[in-house]
Amino acid sequence: MYILGIESSCDETAAAVMENDSRLLSNVVNTQIDIHSKYGGVVPELASRKHLEDIHPVVSEALTRAERSLDEIDIIAVTQGPGLIGSLLVGLSFAKAISLVKNIPYVGVDHMAGHLLSVFLGTEKPQFPYIALVASGGHSSIFRVTAPDDYILLGRTRDDAAGEAFDKVAKILGLGYPGGPIISSLSRKGNPEAIQFPRSWLEPESLDFSFSGIKTSVANYVKKNQVLSDAEEQNRGNEGGLIADICASFQEAVVDVLVEKTLTCALQQKIKTVVLAGGVSANLRLRQVMEERGKKKGLEVFMPPIEFSTDNAAMVALAGYYRRHDAQTTYDMDVYSRIILK
Ligand code: KG4
Ligand code: ZN
Repeated sequence: MYILGIESSCDETAAAVMENDSRLLSNVVNTQIDIHSKYGGVVPELASRKHLEDIHPVVSEALTRAERSLDEIDIIAVTQGPGLIGSLLVGLSFAKAISLVKNIPYVGVDHMAGHLLSVFLGTEKPQFPYIALVASGGHSSIFRVTAPDDYILLGRTRDDAAGEAFDKVAKILGLGYPGGPIISSLSRKGNPEAIQFPRSWLEPESLDFSFSGIKTSVANYVKKNQVLSDAEEQNRGNEGGLIADICASFQEAVVDVLVEKTLTCALQQKIKTVVLAGGVSANLRLRQVMEERGKKKGLEVFMPPIEFSTDNAAMVALAGYYRRHDAQTTYDMDVYSRIILK
């Protein structure tokens, strides 16, 4: 069975073709970073307009690279939510149009289900059940995953998502967008113990997150210490520079909380396997600390290859495969913006 996956929930227009749940034939991701970077974040209306422009070429490219025609596609899997409404509507409307013209059934996929399954696109595949941390620009959530289409939310952020914190701190430091990759690479030159930024643990045993406090602490630190830009620091001959220390210390604090809460959840639930997913799981320090501390607690840690950590349509096609029996050819499906609580 061939599945065409379509993803347009945020600022990536993506399409992929998969054969069943095991062979990825193509994976095309067109990022809109250039458009949004000057605003320091995603501008929803610009995102929808760009999806509209890109969706056809991206889907065509995915079919071409897979050496498949639309006539060979058995089902279309499309992200239904959560995400930006205008962006989601472009992907869903496109899927409906193909479905109508070619009489191919389509299935709406939850974006979180995609992230939760993205680990199976790699070579090391975990066994069910597992505890998964999905940390992205829109979410920092911990799930218990029992089967491909069976998962419950156990913890979530009460304010900013982890990726959002990276993006906002990068903006405060004048580093550009998206903040995650920039902060993570600058952190390599910095001292993670230079500044003790606060860790927000919330109530004892809580699996929820809060990242707005640390963002404010970084802003206060920058103001109080009259921090110069990275370039100015370098010009003064400061090795690494204060900016690198701020980045490393901030990253360490966020990683600490993400790792501790996820591992606590696994121990609470008596589950031996932990999975990392979402854009922030591209962070090398997070990967390293999760693996080290997980091992010490007797847990096995799995993560997707970095290309499948950030938004892509391969994970949507995969999630669609497991929901193939729900594929439909009626056109009343709508999108949704918020995470679904099961
Ligand atoms: O999963 P994703 O591509 O899109 C959403 O569903 O939000 O995640 C994007 C987020 C951005 O906030 C970006 O700054 C963050 O993931 N990110 C990272 C890294 N690479 C991307 N955060 C920390 N370290 C990274 N290396
Ligand atoms: Zn995502």
